[in-house]
Amino acid sequence: MERYIIKGGTPLVGEVEISGAKNAALGILAAAVMADEPVAIDNLPDVSDINVLIDAISEVGANVVRDSRHSVKINGGTITSTKADNEYIKKIRASYYLLGAFLGKFKRAEVPLPGGCNIGSRPIDQHLKGFKALGAEIKIEHGMIIANAEELTGNHIFFDVVSVGATINVMLAAALAKGNTVLENVAKEPHVVDIANMLNSMGANIKGAGTDVIRIKGVEKLHGTEYSVIPDQIEAGTFMLAAAITKGDILVKNVIPKHLEAITAKLYEIGATVEEYDDSVRVKGNEVIKPTHVRTLPYPGFPTDMQPQMAVALALADGTSTVTENLFENRFKYVDELTKMGASIKVESNIAVFEGIKEFTGAEVNALDLRAGAALVIAGIAAKGFTTIESVHYIKRGYEMLEKKLQKLGAQIELTSSDKEIQKFKLKVG
Ligand code: EPZ
Repeated sequence: MERYIIKGGTPLVGEVEISGAKNAALGILAAAVMADEPVAIDNLPDVSDINVLIDAISEVGANVVRDSRHSVKINGGTITSTKADNEYIKKIRASYYLLGAFLGKFKRAEVPLPGGCNIGSRPIDQHLKGFKALGAEIKIEHGMIIANAEELTGNHIFFDVVSVGATINVMLAAALAKGNTVLENVAKEPHVVDIANMLNSMGANIKGAGTDVIRIKGVEKLHGTEYSVIPDQIEAGTFMLAAAITKGDILVKNVIPKHLEAITAKLYEIGATVEEYDDSVRVKGNEVIKPTHVRTLPYPGFPTDMQPQMAVALALADGTSTVTENLFENRFKYVDELTKMGASIKVESNIAVFEGIKEFTGAEVNALDLRAGAALVIAGIAAKGFTTIESVHYIKRGYEMLEKKLQKLGAQIELTSSDKEIQKFKLKVG
């Protein structure tokens, strides 16, 4: 079983290159199958969620050429099945984007009910509401979502909940529907905009992505394209918080500063400084972390995917802070793990109250989901003594070579697969 072993106490200093955005790349890969010509995608993050989806696309018969860890060419013209059903794909939530892609292109789709991190119930009622509004018939049988349509016709859809997944999935299907579709109360995340831009580069006609209303004129067919994925604002934010938490100084490269504004604002509130450049930001931690209050909201609000990382900073702040989690009902699982490291946090429903402590002490902790895992790694780097982190596979779903990027910043961290390797690390670092 792979574990991270960390010896804490080193401020993170230096430069880090941010990879492509996982949550944009997943929708972009699904969109790629909608053409019958080669679609070349680069700046993919080399993370397990991406690799699983590429395998699944290849398994339904698309022609997939993996040029490198960070690029792929997909030709959906050879797809023989619209049933994406394999063991791996049940583990990743984004398998459901193949619903929108297959429904749009083939007017039929069969995809496993989504898996993913257990941060909440993760319903898909808004996705299905959108597909039905476009004229699809939906059945759920044997754990599979089965969608069929004689044809898809544009419609005016008002989402009951702002949902990244539903916005992207219905946009995929509507791109090839007959007539016009208006989507209201949509998600505005940078990855929604990235997927709309990629679809437009394939000949779709989508306007308004990134605003509250997306207008789509259905087209007959989509053609091939070459597209590069935007940088991952959550990976960037994770390293920005790492600089503040370890009182370090990190130049975070290959970012779009505009996408980081909510995170930058909170960093200033806790006493860190952020220098913005064209495609990088430099974050310097402060000796004292100031307390503050955080509420997660859809973009451009403070991202829920940055909530655990922010919580680590607040657990070390000089005073009382609160975090209100407004998107998911079970996103405080890391609190028990941080408590093992000495944190003083009380969770009441969707609000966590932090009484800041001086310093974490290292402990054996468990990464219970992707972002909680990343947050615990940063806590371990800031802690006094040794920390081991179990269930590293969660972290590998969304962070490319995390330990290598952290080692380059001075962290004493290694990925190990046995007790012997852990002992060796402890002897080496002393
Ligand atoms: C995406 O999940 C991301 N995953 C999540 O990132 C991210 O936390 C989330 O968006 C919010 O930004 C991917 O992009 C693969 P939602 P998604 O639909 O699309 C409710 C990570 O760490 N809802 O925007 O599943 C839902 O319960 C992951 O990278 C419905 O009620 O999130 C939640 O309360 C974790 N009905 C809220 O909307 C629906 O049909 C937001 O969920 C859909 C969602």
